[in-house]
Amino acid sequence: MVSLFENFPNRKNTRSAKWDMVEKLYGANNVQPMWVADMDLTIAEAMKQALKNRVDHGIFGYTVTDDEINKHVQQWILTQHQWEIEKDWIVYSPGVIPTLHMAVLTQTNPGDKIAIQTPVYPPFFELIKTHDRELVQNPLIYQDNYYTIDFDDLENSFKQGVSAFILCNPHNPVGRVWTKEELEQLAKLCLQYDVTILSDEIHADLIYPGHKHIPISSLSEEVNQQTITCLSPTKTFNIAGLQVSYAIIPNEKRRKAMNKAFRKYGMNHINTLGITAIEAAYTEGKDWLDQLMQLLERNRDLVVDAFAARDEITAVQPEGTYLIWLDCTNMKLEQAELKKFMQEKAKVGLNDGVSFGEKGQGFMRINIASPTNYVQEGINKIIAALDELK
Ligand SMILES: Cc1ncc(COP(=O)(O)O)c(C=O)c1O
Repeated sequence: MVSLFENFPNRKNTRSAKWDMVEKLYGANNVQPMWVADMDLTIAEAMKQALKNRVDHGIFGYTVTDDEINKHVQQWILTQHQWEIEKDWIVYSPGVIPTLHMAVLTQTNPGDKIAIQTPVYPPFFELIKTHDRELVQNPLIYQDNYYTIDFDDLENSFKQGVSAFILCNPHNPVGRVWTKEELEQLAKLCLQYDVTILSDEIHADLIYPGHKHIPISSLSEEVNQQTITCLSPTKTFNIAGLQVSYAIIPNEKRRKAMNKAFRKYGMNHINTLGITAIEAAYTEGKDWLDQLMQLLERNRDLVVDAFAARDEITAVQPEGTYLIWLDCTNMKLEQAELKKFMQEKAKVGLNDGVSFGEKGQGFMRINIASPTNYVQEGINKIIAALDELK
């Protein structure tokens, strides 16, 4: 089963952000990359074949989406997340971040306040500030290696007039898959204070046993009208480079404004191979995804167990995503020293916790979407470097 993911082709010199930026980012080319959120795993054979067939066709003119693609998307969301969506709600886009930019532009006004739950995916900060909106942080509560939502703080900020809230579910980097109760409480506040919900659910398909992803929009018709949901096959099926995604926008007024903005900025097309990939992923990718989740669960346990035996670092157990938030606060290092330790002593390239906001002080993020022996090698290096500190 897992043998599907035992090896992967050399990614160096493929213009891979993860592999070919190592020297620039980490100062040496012998640092093992375990950072940006893509996988060192070959895509599903059926998808590879579909892409090959499309390439063999030899013509790559402007491409349109149609009801067949819509149906695949509807079916995927229904079977994966038990959410019934209408085909007209789907708006295709080159990426979740481009969609969020359009959403900030169309659903809020300059000077408006937009709330995010920190520590969180770094581009969220940028997409608020770059459009001259005001960033409101609702820091998550961290206790006993577990993150929860500070609802009182959120309500207090909503009282002061927040116009949109960007939800990250599952949450990158802390790995929470928000429960129905948590989502209901969030939705209730957003409705009460008329806050638009921009829900980034790009990691929705990567959920560990015992947890369930619930699209916030699916909670009620009222929430559905208040929400723009961003989804994509790119994280699930390791096709981030194909730059394809879609938003689910049930409210007609919001959808019209979004479509208009996508046209205005010349972003109303998705690429030919992206469309081919969506179709292959959603019609033939499920077995591959099931095997992927077995691998990720094994890798997650490996990382969590390895650090459970150490005092210096604790892995915050993720409920979803292939990213693990490492609590290194017991090492009592300044952030610059912690980064130096990882890249110069352990020789692993991780994401700097502080890039996810101030609350990431003392943390690093590791990517476990690689063959198990690769993840093991990275962990061994960190542990050997910790031993040297003693
Ligand atoms: C929460 C989250 N949103 C969005 C993205 C990127 O989405 P896209 O490449 O579709 O813009 C990522 C990638 O890591 C992510 O983790």
